[in-house]
Amino acid sequence: MSKQEKSYTSEAKFMLHGGDYNPDQWLDRPDILADDVKLMQLAHTNTFSVGIFAWSTLEPEEGVYQFEWLDEIFSNIHSIGGKVILATPSGARPAWMSQTYPEVLRVDGSRVKQLHGGRHNHCFTSKVYREKTQQINRLLAERYGDHPALLMWHISNEYGGECHCNQCQDTFRNWLMNKYNGELKALNDAWWGPFWSHTITDWSQIESPSSIGESMVHGLNLDWRRFITDQTISFYKNEIIPLRELTPTVPITTNFMADTNDLIPFQALDYSKFAKHLDVISWDAYPAWHNDWESTGDLAMKVAFIDDLYRSLKQQPFLLMESTPSGVNWHQVNKTKRPGMHLLSAMQMVAHGSDSILYFQWRKSRGSSEKFHGAVVDHDNSAENRVFKDVAEVGQTLEKLSNIVGTNRPADVGLLYDWESNWALNDAQGFGLETKRYPQTLQDHYRTFWEKDIPVDVITKEQDFSAYKLLVVPMLYLVSEETISRLKTFVSNGGTLVMTYISGLVNEHDLAYLGGWHKDLQEIFGIKPVETDTLYPRDQNTITYHNKTYSLKDYATVIELTNANIEGLYVEDFYANSPAITSHQYQSGKAYYIGGRLEDAFQKDFYETLIEELNLAPISNVKHEKGVSVQVRSSAESDYIFVMNFTEQNQPVLFESLVTDMVTGEELVGEVVLRKYEVRIVEKSNS
Ligand code: GAL
Repeated sequence: MSKQEKSYTSEAKFMLHGGDYNPDQWLDRPDILADDVKLMQLAHTNTFSVGIFAWSTLEPEEGVYQFEWLDEIFSNIHSIGGKVILATPSGARPAWMSQTYPEVLRVDGSRVKQLHGGRHNHCFTSKVYREKTQQINRLLAERYGDHPALLMWHISNEYGGECHCNQCQDTFRNWLMNKYNGELKALNDAWWGPFWSHTITDWSQIESPSSIGESMVHGLNLDWRRFITDQTISFYKNEIIPLRELTPTVPITTNFMADTNDLIPFQALDYSKFAKHLDVISWDAYPAWHNDWESTGDLAMKVAFIDDLYRSLKQQPFLLMESTPSGVNWHQVNKTKRPGMHLLSAMQMVAHGSDSILYFQWRKSRGSSEKFHGAVVDHDNSAENRVFKDVAEVGQTLEKLSNIVGTNRPADVGLLYDWESNWALNDAQGFGLETKRYPQTLQDHYRTFWEKDIPVDVITKEQDFSAYKLLVVPMLYLVSEETISRLKTFVSNGGTLVMTYISGLVNEHDLAYLGGWHKDLQEIFGIKPVETDTLYPRDQNTITYHNKTYSLKDYATVIELTNANIEGLYVEDFYANSPAITSHQYQSGKAYYIGGRLEDAFQKDFYETLIEELNLAPISNVKHEKGVSVQVRSSAESDYIFVMNFTEQNQPVLFESLVTDMVTGEELVGEVVLRKYEVRIVEKSNS
């Protein structure tokens, strides 16, 4: 069975709609469970993630199992034609387990063992926890593997965190021995051992960093982070052994996250590595819509950026595994979605490649910390409230979009995101400690394309660059010689490459390149970046670029020209009149270097020039003002065009050719006015 065949789309040719369902909280309320079945139909839902935190109900005592309730839930969902995404329950464990086997409890960075409680807090190395997890997973696969309602596996929940127990320390040492072929010299070389007398003379001296910020051995920090990713994946791989064995055709996912304060990709795990082990990417999106620090459009751009990264991890549609139909319970202010926002935000996910709209949570719990978190069914148990009706509207809309399932989004622009480089950059003592902002810088470069409806793949360093006309690589601080050589091939073969300040400074061990910038980068760009000036927030500088002036903040690289052309100049300071922006024709391609952190207006003008030069066509010919986003998914037969108004005003949009509204069936051409937060999904036939 190939990967492709294992895709859930071969199972489900419909958009998934539903979400996390926790019937285990309501087993003494058969009336509520019966209501669920009715309400699921009224909400136009069809798919439920079940059992995520149900371990204490599934195995109330060690070796004593209770599956009858889950049998009933499977039958209930099946009876209405629905599907189950069955979770493995390792995200939270029963109290008896922590009591009998304290080794399953996590130890924090200061070497303090955590008490039982909370969730997502087990040791990833613990032999006992791995065994117990496999046991319960095997039983679930044996019992439900052939159930016609089983759609997919949901492994654990939002893997994250780290453990510093003795077993983890030993496993880390073994991981290092393996990585450095048992040679301490290689490790000391990579970690720059003699610095502050950190040379290691015996493997047993190695300890995990108590916290990354406290350890000044950057090589150690970087390897620890890599180890945490590998150890989490290893735990996940252990979980899926019985599932692959017993249910080889059932696809597997685990729900990825975002870091939510600023809405950037999840930082702690390298998802580019994790993605290789999943059949389908899924993620949990909780943007703070209607917040008081950014415009709706700015926030929509950040959601789009993460979507385009997570979709590009496998270059295939993904699933929105969790979202809220109203507010959450853990933002500083938990604002509910204003009328129109639920449909709009849901359709944005589909527009960027999601084949589902799933919620946390189906029903509000009665007790504990999530009782006021948004849900499809509120404590009123009613299908008549605003939120429920919003959900039903999304369900009805999705029912009309089944042709879109499985379709992708071709892109000519690649934007490179790298977890490892971000870790190393954040660790770097130097530059501005608060102003590095790598993910936010990528968003700044992404914005222009998003505003101009030019599709972008946000890719990672191992992916194929040759598919793109333009590759944008901002702030790639850590870059291996291998990646440099792939960038070189990309440009020599005719690609256009953009790099910025604070790029190419260290290798994969976080060791600075010697002898100035890497000679291949010098060759590609025709420059030598010689100094990085870091600015205070009130420092002012500007650059001139193509007869216009733009303000600069945080960083300015002083550039020595070897072969490149000057495109822009610094205006002030000791580097006034020296190059700030350069371009260089290298073999069949071209390489641009942006020396400073510049205002949005620069990115806009700069990328507009490239868009023209490279003939990068917008994804559709729908014309609109700022704040409206147009995204397209395509099949051989049709383009499915999403026109989304992320502003609080009416917005005229212009359909230059005839399209059909997929929801209302109307034929549209010419000007159409979108109301505040309105979305139109239209089909344009390719024949
Ligand atoms: C997610 C988690 C869910 C639920 C939700 C609340 O991070 O996976 O179980 O807690 O947050 O927003």
